[in-house]
Amino acid sequence: MRAMICEHHGGPEQVVPGELPLPEPGPGEVRIRVRACGINFPDVLMVAGRYQAQPPLPFAPGAEVAGEIDLCADDSGFAAGQRVLAFCHSGGLAEYVVVNASQVVAIPDAMPFDIAAAFILTYGTSWHALRQRARLVAGERLLVLGAAGGVGLAAVELGALAGAEVIAVASTEDKRALAADHGAAHTLGYDDLKARLKALTGGDGVDVIFDPVGGDSFEQALRASARGGRALVVGFAAGNIPTVPMNLPLLKGCSIVGVFWGQFTEHEPHTAAANHRQLMRWYVDGRLRPHIDRAYPFGRAADALERLASREARGKVVVTGP
Ligand SMILES: NC(=O)c1ccc[n+]([C@@H]2O[C@H](COP(=O)([O-])OP(=O)(O)OC[C@H]3O[C@@H](n4cnc5c(N)ncnc54)[C@H](OP(=O)(O)O)[C@@H]3O)[C@@H](O)[C@H]2O)c1
Repeated sequence: MRAMICEHHGGPEQVVPGELPLPEPGPGEVRIRVRACGINFPDVLMVAGRYQAQPPLPFAPGAEVAGEIDLCADDSGFAAGQRVLAFCHSGGLAEYVVVNASQVVAIPDAMPFDIAAAFILTYGTSWHALRQRARLVAGERLLVLGAAGGVGLAAVELGALAGAEVIAVASTEDKRALAADHGAAHTLGYDDLKARLKALTGGDGVDVIFDPVGGDSFEQALRASARGGRALVVGFAAGNIPTVPMNLPLLKGCSIVGVFWGQFTEHEPHTAAANHRQLMRWYVDGRLRPHIDRAYPFGRAADALERLASREARGKVVVTGP
């Protein structure tokens, strides 16, 4: 089958057209004919050989897809031809992908494949982070770093939907405008973050910190935590994993909370499925508005990855076809 494959670790340009064997579903698995593949920062890390769970070379990157069920067992809960989205970890930039049926979600006819392929990884991660890990409640202040990125923009929308006062931090004016359009009550740049957050909150600080960026801003944000705050460690798109003085959680009476959505979907499939149903209901009701920054044709998957690697993406990037 046709695939966009990574044969050597490196930059996005390593992802080139090629062929991979047609995958055969095992027990509990289904095969999907891929129509669109969502691109996420972990794909960039996987191609670079820097992700925590690396597929063996050569591999097709792409952790989430939308398409039609091609092959499934009678007891899978799915039918051939059914429109679905799925989290596949890798392998999505190909004609077909095989996934465990527990990672597949039926999609409504009105949901286009490009939107469906850009949905579950970001909204799934951000809702798991806010709901199960931070236990965010209405009225709390939620700080989102990298607020115009994939998981960041989803966290802004979901935080606002949950009734939080969302403070969005992003590097450029147009990224901040996008976050405001998706529900942020306040927007800031990264400069002088602790002082600005203290000023904005009348000295009280923020209740929940959602950090997919890492680097120096994590400590700045933590220094502006409210008492009882929860700092969500989501990712390190800036490249460096922060270390923080451990007197900070003590002084603030706050918690540093890890988030690993892929692991959560495997270990707590019932809670994950309930999250997915809730997210799909909100989408159908028009309460979530996935933002597609750019859609690239299949052969330009490397450009799609580069858009994230170069910090240009706003919302989500997808690859359509093949
Ligand atoms: N824990 C989990 O379960 C989980 C799940 C999904 C993703 N993640 C992680 O979350 C992070 C974000 O993923 P994503 O798919 O949302 O990525 P994305 O769409 O590329 O967004 C990342 C954001 O990080 C900021 N950033 C700062 N320095 C950057 C740099 N050097 N290169 C690129 N971006 C930079 C950018 O915002 P500004 O320009 O505004 O700073 C950008 O919008 C990644 O580290 C990813 O691995 C974790």
